[in-house]
Amino acid sequence: MDKYYDLGITFIESVKLDDCNNTLIILDQTLLPNEKIFLEVKKLEDIWEAIHSLRVRGAPAIGITAAFGIYLWTKASSATSFENLFVDFKKGKDYLASARPTAVNLFWALDRMENRLNAEKHKEIAQIKVNLKDEAEKIHFEDAHVCEAIGNNTLSLLQPGWGILTHCNAGTIATARLGTALAPIYIGNARGYDFKVFADETRPLLQGARLTAWELKEASVDVTLICDNMASIVMKQGKIQAVLVGCDRIAANGDVANKIGTSGVAILAKYYNIPFYVCAPLSTIDLKCKNGDEIDIELRSGEEITSKWYSKPMAPEGVKTYNPCFDVTDNKIITAIITEKGIVYPPYEENLSKIF
Ligand code: MRU
Repeated sequence: MDKYYDLGITFIESVKLDDCNNTLIILDQTLLPNEKIFLEVKKLEDIWEAIHSLRVRGAPAIGITAAFGIYLWTKASSATSFENLFVDFKKGKDYLASARPTAVNLFWALDRMENRLNAEKHKEIAQIKVNLKDEAEKIHFEDAHVCEAIGNNTLSLLQPGWGILTHCNAGTIATARLGTALAPIYIGNARGYDFKVFADETRPLLQGARLTAWELKEASVDVTLICDNMASIVMKQGKIQAVLVGCDRIAANGDVANKIGTSGVAILAKYYNIPFYVCAPLSTIDLKCKNGDEIDIELRSGEEITSKWYSKPMAPEGVKTYNPCFDVTDNKIITAIITEKGIVYPPYEENLSKIF
């Protein structure tokens, strides 16, 4: 598991550890596609802010950032006993865990770091810190291979020349390398599949327009940008043969939380008889959540709807807003959930737990 496919594409690493300088290098995704700026982040508050403000975003990338962040924080601790180091670690962990509520990968990565810390209990402090770095690097490295496996598994369901609709950005910059929903597109195109991708713009933060359209275009993929409310017409016109999306949390019954608007796309796909596939690592499955109602849906500022991307406000001043960042797609309308371990079909309640 140490070789990547050579797809002939240069991938940008959206999160990188510069251990010598105690720094995280983060691609500021809020500035794309106009500026490609890498932030050098050292303080835990700034790592929290980068996650909270979506400078780094996408469930797997959030988890990777948190893992590196908690490592750097713990490395800086002056504790001389395990007990005190643990207290410092917990303080940083709880703080980072409050950055965003929906993507379970954030909590998964932080828990994994805590488990590693506990397993190192009897080692010297300096060695514990080195091993925490090792765990964070593993989380990063493994995600790259997980994406590749998801890409191959998903590709087995697709045919050359197909039109693929995607929502939000589940691509390279949301993960360690190939993305989840975009991985089969990169792998397939390298094998001559020549997919035609339709990217929903993804209101209100425009991840589809700013990020998916950008990264696919950079990789010379045939991509067409549409507004969210155009998904129905392209489906009706027969331009779409499959929908591929990523996700932030999958409940035990197969309900899927992903970017706001995803459930509407799934309903349309069902109507037009188009397969709706969710591509996600096992780290996104949260068997502790019985169903979608138990998933905490992030609410964000109304300013993202009224004025964020406009030179002048495009809504009356003081208008009430409601800005849920994610929605839950009912398991009944999901054709399959595709993980690194294989393709899971309904009944999800039964089949999701089997793959662990
Ligand atoms: O708010 P965002 O941009 O972090 O939302 C991201 C998504 O909804 C992605 O589809 C999901 O995290 C999967 S990324 C591989």
